[in-house]
Amino acid sequence: MNFIPASFISRTLVTGGLLLALVACSDRAPSIVDNMSPEEKLVHQGSQAARLCVGCHGPKGISRVASYPSIAGRSQTYLAEQLHAFRDGTRENPMMSSIVKSMDDDDILALSYYFSSLPGPDTGGTKSEERAP
Ligand code: HEC
Repeated sequence: MNFIPASFISRTLVTGGLLLALVACSDRAPSIVDNMSPEEKLVHQGSQAARLCVGCHGPKGISRVASYPSIAGRSQTYLAEQLHAFRDGTRENPMMSSIVKSMDDDDILALSYYFSSLPGPDTGGTKSEERAP
């Protein structure tokens, strides 16, 4: 009967696992995301995270409710600064703080790129004055 040392088995398992992981990665079908510029990737990533925001800020960041500001088309730096301020507590709003408190800097960056890339209320959205009474 052949005696196989336990250390040999575990080494084989580890190597096999690593190989499997490598194969799994390289087998991945190339997605459109791979061809995007860093900025486009952020916008794309932000568009996914933005699902959390549409309920209050409107589907394209243009709000129909006065108490929720429109955030589409604002500058990327402004949006990022506000989100950081809500997270740090330097700008206080219970709704916004509870949304951003679990976000990391990447999420905030992506969301700010996404909403600043959208047309704002003055450039394509419905202005409040133009709405039917
Ligand atoms: C539950 C409702 C709600 C949700 C969901 C929500 N917000 Fe807000 N948001 C608000 C309210 C209310 C304010 C206004 C706060 C204030 O007056 O200080 C606000 C303010 C903001 C502002 C500041 C706008 C300005 O004019 O200064 C930004 C930026 C913002 N939200 C981004 C987001 C993003 C990004 C998301 C999704 C991750 C999100 N919000 C989700 C309610 C919400």
